[in-house]
Amino acid sequence: MKHLQEEILRLKKEKDICILAHSYQAHEILEVADFVGDSYQLSVKATEAPQKTVLMCGVKFMAETVKILSPEKTVLLSHPDAGCPMAEQLDAETVLQLKEQYPGCTVVAYINTTAELKTVCDVCVTSSSAVEIVKKLPNDKILFIPDINLGNYVKAQCLAAGIEKQFIFVHGGCPTHAKMTAKDVEKAKAAYPNALFLVHPECRPEVVSQADFVGSTSAIMQYAKKSDAKEFIIGTENSIAEHLQYDCPDKLFYVLSKDLVCHNMKLTTLPDVYNCLRGISGEEITLEPEVITSARRCIDEMLRLGG
Ligand code: 13P
Ligand code: SF4
Repeated sequence: MKHLQEEILRLKKEKDICILAHSYQAHEILEVADFVGDSYQLSVKATEAPQKTVLMCGVKFMAETVKILSPEKTVLLSHPDAGCPMAEQLDAETVLQLKEQYPGCTVVAYINTTAELKTVCDVCVTSSSAVEIVKKLPNDKILFIPDINLGNYVKAQCLAAGIEKQFIFVHGGCPTHAKMTAKDVEKAKAAYPNALFLVHPECRPEVVSQADFVGSTSAIMQYAKKSDAKEFIIGTENSIAEHLQYDCPDKLFYVLSKDLVCHNMKLTTLPDVYNCLRGISGEEITLEPEVITSARRCIDEMLRLGG
């Protein structure tokens, strides 16, 4: 273990700080985290951490989710510029207009949204919980925001289960995953003909439809670890292929494309984590009490339905 990692472990213990890390973070950051997971798992862990301070190594909406669930805690974001472009695509004003335009819909918000936007939605979902939660909703009219690719995947899964709902989408999605094309899949499959193709539902339908498995970051990792197959093409942020390669040295993991990189997730470095613990970098998340109360309804509903 590196000297800096040892210092981080010492400091977080001394200051009683819990480090949560999204699986898209660098390997050396995962090694010093108290918990690593996908968006859903991180939000559950946020409610369980006994420490008074939580440091989120990920992007801003994840740190906001921790603050919403634990307003009494000091919540730090590892890098102040680490946002999620998808989370910035819609604002509360636009959602209020959409609600007027499409009355009677249940507004389902991907967790990759700002705290402010969550205040005007009915329920949050993550990539690992979206299908199950939407299936359970009593309303047949769903306004699904902002990820049109995840929305289309949820719609297809509902239809496959014989559940017909009317979905309304507005333009939006993850610029990183949406960059992937059917051509990228064709090239990767030609290069690695024996590999299984595992993909995140933030990718386009023409990419998702070619997958052997579709799931959240954690589901992809679990699938690859349990599978008897030996080679995999990973259709989500490239760090997942790297982490899997560490975890399963007897298997081979290939990236779908060298361009599948989330630059926001990659902003955080090990020195950032160290400086955050020292109190000289990062950002403390503050939210108005009314925002916390309204946004929490949406997240609590997700935890209730997704549990
Ligand atoms: P999950 O961690 O829920 O799979 O989502 C991926 C993602 O893009 C997070 O921003
Ligand atoms: Fe946002 Fe996409 Fe990056 Fe996830 S991978 S944080 S959705 S930009």
